[in-house]
Amino acid sequence: MSNALYDQAVEILERNDLGHYTVPTHGLYPFQWNWDSALSALGQYYVDESRAWTEIETLFDHQWEDGMVPHIIFHKEDDGYFPGPDVWSTNRPTPTTGITQPAVTGFAVRRLYERAKDKDMARKRALALLPKIAAWHDWFFRARDPQGTGMVAIIHPWESGRDNSVDWDDAFERVPTEGVGDFKRRDLDHADPDHRPTHEQYQRYIWLVKHFRSLGWDNSKLHDASPFRVVDPGFNAILLRSCADLAALAEELGEPELAAHERAQAEKGLAAMENLWSDKHQQYLCYDRAAETLIDSPSIGGLLPVFARIKQSRADAIAEHLEKLGQRVKYMVPSHDPDAAEYDGARYWRGPSWLIVNYMISDGLLRDGHEDMAARIIADSMKLIHVGGFAEYFDPMNGDPCGGPHFTWTAAMVIEFLKLTGEVA
Ligand code: DGY
Repeated sequence: MSNALYDQAVEILERNDLGHYTVPTHGLYPFQWNWDSALSALGQYYVDESRAWTEIETLFDHQWEDGMVPHIIFHKEDDGYFPGPDVWSTNRPTPTTGITQPAVTGFAVRRLYERAKDKDMARKRALALLPKIAAWHDWFFRARDPQGTGMVAIIHPWESGRDNSVDWDDAFERVPTEGVGDFKRRDLDHADPDHRPTHEQYQRYIWLVKHFRSLGWDNSKLHDASPFRVVDPGFNAILLRSCADLAALAEELGEPELAAHERAQAEKGLAAMENLWSDKHQQYLCYDRAAETLIDSPSIGGLLPVFARIKQSRADAIAEHLEKLGQRVKYMVPSHDPDAAEYDGARYWRGPSWLIVNYMISDGLLRDGHEDMAARIIADSMKLIHVGGFAEYFDPMNGDPCGGPHFTWTAAMVIEFLKLTGEVA
């Protein structure tokens, strides 16, 4: 059974592989997505070690001069997606969007390096990626933390990867919808509208894109000019974990200065993250930087920090929180608290469970000594695949498959879990 699942996962990776990059799924997402690629490379490693490195290298081939790594690379034309290159108008040799996504590459590259069977190849390729990833991290702390607080803000919900999370609802109210004009969404041609963001949210997404475009995509201006500036603890935790992992990798590769720099960034950020802890919710909360208020929204964004090396007492509290969540859902981990009024078990990031989140959370729990909760999350992830197939995300109550089918990073995570548990040698 495990071997059959493994084979199915490999088939999905191959089906979505366009040679030097992988689409998340054909139809709904026909280009290269940033954090999809980084996480998918982990699964790809077991199929073809060299190909896994290529996935990440392709992403960094499209890094901007200022250090940003875009959230989508439009490698070829496809009018089945909106908003396409003409809406973004970033004037790049290969069109890209003008915003970024969770910086999980530092983590992924360290893991690829540690696992490498071909160490010479891995060393060469990791050494070439090292300064590029470091430049991206520096970009974050420069462009998205201009006051030097240690925490970076997202300026568009799409940057978080958690597009329509309840976390953004209030802050998003400040983003106008006037003047966006008519547009035709293409995601609804490929996915159930009940699983996707609403029309009003799309209007605000597009307003922000047009606003940033009118500022020439100049990252020295965008942060302060955005009406939407939110500090997401999950997003920051991914970045800080990547800083720490890049530091360890740099040390190993004989780059002690770079290592010290990355380590300092990680430590500063982790200390600053403590300001976002909520005793009431026993998790971290988002911070609305424009309104200067904590956002009282119990989402997965505040549990994801266990992926980074937060204090042990916080990791313990998060494990306990997860324990309680686990009594209320069948399949961990819901992206929003099921008791909250806004919870919606099928709608993208307002409730559904995602295997990539399960992977990052269980990775942190295993490191911090919470093996039982990690095992529950991994077991639930595999059950979801049995119930719902290799979907983009799943309803945490009944395991219904949601979003797009044949999903690359879902398949990659299945490979990861099967290897981690030893179910597949
Ligand atoms: C989409 O198109 O829904 C993506 O999530 C944006 O990155």
